[in-house]
Amino acid sequence: MTSNMLFEPYTLGAIQLSNRIVMAPLTRNRAGPGLVPGDLTAEYYAQRASAGLVIAEATQVSQQAQGYQDTPGIYTRDQIEGWRKVTAAVHAKGGRMVLQLWHVGRVSHVDLQPDGGQPVAPSAIRADTKTFVNNAFVDVSQPRALEIDELAGIVDDFRQAASNAIAAGFDGVEVHGANGYLLEQFAKDGANIRTDAYGGSVENRARLMLEVTAAVAQEIGPDRTGIRISPVSPANGIACSDPQAQYDYIVDQLEALGIAYIHVVEGATGGPRDIAPFDYGSLRRRFSKTYIANNGYDLGLATAHLSEGKADLIAFGRPFIANPDFVERLRSSAPLAEIDPTTLYGGGAAGYTDYPRLTQAPGT
Ligand SMILES: Cc1cc2nc3c(=O)[nH]c(=O)nc-3n(C[C@H](O)[C@H](O)[C@H](O)COP(=O)(O)O)c2cc1C
Repeated sequence: MTSNMLFEPYTLGAIQLSNRIVMAPLTRNRAGPGLVPGDLTAEYYAQRASAGLVIAEATQVSQQAQGYQDTPGIYTRDQIEGWRKVTAAVHAKGGRMVLQLWHVGRVSHVDLQPDGGQPVAPSAIRADTKTFVNNAFVDVSQPRALEIDELAGIVDDFRQAASNAIAAGFDGVEVHGANGYLLEQFAKDGANIRTDAYGGSVENRARLMLEVTAAVAQEIGPDRTGIRISPVSPANGIACSDPQAQYDYIVDQLEALGIAYIHVVEGATGGPRDIAPFDYGSLRRRFSKTYIANNGYDLGLATAHLSEGKADLIAFGRPFIANPDFVERLRSSAPLAEIDPTTLYGGGAAGYTDYPRLTQAPGT
């Protein structure tokens, strides 16, 4: 046992956490018909409810926002009802849960889009990345550039989705501003060559991400709103020529919005933390509320960064997949189980709800 800041309670905006360990959002492609999360999903998250905060997997705000098969939505009545069972199961175990709101932008495929149309993007630049549709990994489709008069509708989709998330019992929402999806596509000049008010300068490229976040905060309260960003991550084939200037500006504006947290993927998502030079301390200093750090953390690095004041909360992704009792294992420095990579995306209970706890109580 260790007395470590990781296991201390923490107040995240309007949400009381029992510890500083966050379950990072993890797409598992197991939504049922109508892209509704089912009972298995409720069981999966309830098994992991000892995290101080569970961030539910990326969830599309509209059909246009979907990029992979069998990812859940939060734009129909049935989806809200499905999520309500999930949040109830997590709350029954004393957990806290926010929903990650997602628009994939160009990382999609015509087979998923309304009327088989092209995926949408800031500019008509195809990403060098794959998506998973029709049970296969395939190249993403050629996107079309969004018209400027379509952007207000996308902001409104996020606003409505945030309202739906609260109706579904979530404690808050996380805007997905990371990993090469729509809001990051606007923010990074490798994907955005627009010449209107949403392209070009640092301010213009940040505009959609900030408008979405402001709309969400206004809808559900800034103290229940967070955002995930990944300043230097090349995830989903994206690049940015000026990440420090861009994200210093974004975080200054997020500070002005008064939202509860920024969730920063440090380095390449799921890859090297030092892929490119970046001063995360600059973001930390610009933002007075909660800084959640993610990417490649283990017990030692998490403990060090908390005690050095580099972060308030630490989000862990992959360890939560194979270790439903990850918090308890950290607490006792117990060994961690390894992921089965073949069951990550799609399927049923195998590799989802059947990873055992270290000490399985009789009859459970
Ligand atoms: C199976 C899988 C699914 C993921 N799904 C999401 C997601 O839905 N949203 C997101 O922002 N990041 C997603 N990520 C990235 C993780 O949240 C996290 O940033 C990454 O795994 C690095 O953290 P870790 O080193 O603690 O695993 C996913 C990663 C994996 C392995």
